[in-house]
Amino acid sequence: MSQYDEAKKRVALEALKYIKSDAVIGVGTGSTVNALIDVLPQVASRCQAFVASSKVTAERLKQVGCLVDSPNQHAFVDVYFDGADECDPHGRLIKGGGGAMTGERIVASMAKQFICLVDHSKLVPRLGRFPVAVEVLSMARSQVARSLLALGGDPVYRENFKTDHGNDVLDVYGLPLTDPVRIADTIERLIGVVGHGLFVDLKPAFTLVAYEDRVQTLSY
Ligand code: A5P
Repeated sequence: MSQYDEAKKRVALEALKYIKSDAVIGVGTGSTVNALIDVLPQVASRCQAFVASSKVTAERLKQVGCLVDSPNQHAFVDVYFDGADECDPHGRLIKGGGGAMTGERIVASMAKQFICLVDHSKLVPRLGRFPVAVEVLSMARSQVARSLLALGGDPVYRENFKTDHGNDVLDVYGLPLTDPVRIADTIERLIGVVGHGLFVDLKPAFTLVAYEDRVQTLSY
């Protein structure tokens, strides 16, 4: 196992400590969450249910023997675990590298507690080096792209990719993110936008950060 994978396993094992008996667990998407899914069987029998943020996560959960419910079967999830592409000092995140940001936003919005799991390479002083993924209805793609250009971003169509919901993704580089809440709000109002990867409203309660030899907890 590479040092990188070991760090992910370390943070995954730490995350298990936050799973209480009879809890409904929300599960995000990505390689860090996959490390969590690998160790979930250790606690799965005392969980009430698992709610997945994406099809790929639902599939992986089933492969390790976890029963997966639809978000529609629950009013809330007790705790939601997910990774991030960038995490700033305020716990604001860029997500969506895997294109699952809309499902991730839905399950995160149901969570009593959101715990972010990253390796230390994801910590940034300010958001913006990683592009902001925007999920759009296909017929609105060009119109939304023009609006994103007007906002100061450089939208790039993610080719040969459809989201779980059959939509397109624009990866937006260079957005001016000095006020990410305002930008997120503006993106949400564009007609045809289904979701985006700027998690500035749905912030984690804390982030577990994997280093080579330890796990750090960053609370906000
Ligand atoms: C999926 O769409 C993303 O939001 C992931 O949560 C994010 O890209 C982190 O993935 P890794 O854990 O693979 O870095």
